[in-house]
Amino acid sequence: MKIVHVASELFPYVKTGGLADAVGALSSTLADLGHEIAVFVPGYRPVTDHPFASAAKRTLKLRVEMGDTFMTGEVRSFSPKPNLTVHLVCREEFFDRRFPYGTPERDYEDNHHRFIFFCKGVVETLRFLEFRADVVHGHDWQCGLLPLLLRHAEQRHEATLAMKTVFTIHNIAFQGVFPMRAFYRTNLPDELMGIDGVEFYGQMSMMKAGILFSDRVTTVSPRYAREIQTPEFGCGLDGVVGTRADDIVGLINGIDTATWNPSTDALIPATYSAADLSGKALCRAELLKRSGLDPKFTGPVVGMVCRLTEQKGLDLVLANEAFFRTANVRFIVLGTGEKKFEEELRELAAAAPDHVALCSRLDEAMSHLVESGSDFFLMPSRFEPCGLNQMYSQAYGTVPLVTRVGGLADTVIDIDANPETGAGITFAPTAEGVAEGLSRMLKLHADKKRLRTAQANGMARDFSWLTAARAYEQLYDDAL
Ligand code: ADP
Ligand code: GLC
Repeated sequence: MKIVHVASELFPYVKTGGLADAVGALSSTLADLGHEIAVFVPGYRPVTDHPFASAAKRTLKLRVEMGDTFMTGEVRSFSPKPNLTVHLVCREEFFDRRFPYGTPERDYEDNHHRFIFFCKGVVETLRFLEFRADVVHGHDWQCGLLPLLLRHAEQRHEATLAMKTVFTIHNIAFQGVFPMRAFYRTNLPDELMGIDGVEFYGQMSMMKAGILFSDRVTTVSPRYAREIQTPEFGCGLDGVVGTRADDIVGLINGIDTATWNPSTDALIPATYSAADLSGKALCRAELLKRSGLDPKFTGPVVGMVCRLTEQKGLDLVLANEAFFRTANVRFIVLGTGEKKFEEELRELAAAAPDHVALCSRLDEAMSHLVESGSDFFLMPSRFEPCGLNQMYSQAYGTVPLVTRVGGLADTVIDIDANPETGAGITFAPTAEGVAEGLSRMLKLHADKKRLRTAQANGMARDFSWLTAARAYEQLYDDAL
């Protein structure tokens, strides 16, 4: 099949979270399976500066209609491996910036223009390259307008650009809602400004457009697919998602086993496998040392790697700060994000410097060290569409402590409820739930035999992308 992926992040070129990992691994695995894959991503500065992208050549000069004016840009392309071409949609004014969406203080004010331009640039490229895709697959709100723009261009130019469109919701909490006056930049028919179109409480919602106007809608776990049809998790779009109930499917992400494999990982001080965990003890000592904690500590080491936001349950962690200050555990957090969480965690680390360590930066190598060196991995998300770290943790023999929501509930089997197959501890997304999970963790740590069972069960699981990519292949086949 000829498949086009369109996303605002792509590992290894630009990443703020799991979206980059998911799109990078899915497109690469589909290429390995023999499909002809094109991936579009904005030509942000970190991407154009990336050494792997230095071979990119200009394939197209763009002249994109944006309302009553035309804007120029260009498409640069390179092929990192057989069957895979990466296209960068470039325009200095929009993308030659340090961050993809905004500074740490606030979102860029022209994000609507930036991503309308991006989607239109993709459509223009498909038209001029005559790619004739079987499937055009967009990810998250930044690509929400793509199906409408694509079909509209087909009508205007009497061209066939794609057989089917697919839209994946990675996180419905981010919706791309902008003042309706931005709609004119799309050059789409005015009737789409209504409630059956992109209108959302008087504004324009790009996520809503993607959900309503794609042939198929997917999200990243079966449980999240059900959750987003309820007011509790739908962030106001539950009704809209409900109208697509027959077409929405939840497909769990995989993990990139070339990057996340304890027996080959070049970013950790010692490799190890389920048969021989001695390397994990070395990783543990190194993690404690690098975090300024006692490397000889024998109690449970709890790690956490995430964006410091409400989604990730930081308030639930902080509600249990007395536990982390006083219990016989060591707690190591790697994360950046909202200032209030960073400050409160820093205060906690300052109050108990021999118990708690905070590493507030983006650090790929450190994230591997936390995954490998921790005994337990805490992920108390309030909601979690899929989540990757709970899967990395299981692969690294690190027992995940997770809330029973979304992809966490779908990928972690509780060891107390399922002594034979369990590999983690699951609990309710409340402060009390986290407290209960932590107290069950202490019991599990004290019972070495059960702890080994949980580790072995996790390490035996297959979370590879091949399974996930096959599921997408099936979805495309069904749609066509
Ligand atoms: P989300 O996409 O909601 O942030 P995921 O669990 O899907 O959550 O993916 C998060 C990804 O970002 C993981 O690969 C995780 O290791 C990585 N990550 C998060 N924070 C950091 C950090 N400070 N340094 C390095 N990697 C990080
Ligand atoms: C989003 C979600 C996360 C998911 C990732 C990749 O960032 O928050 O749960 O794993 O997308 O699909």
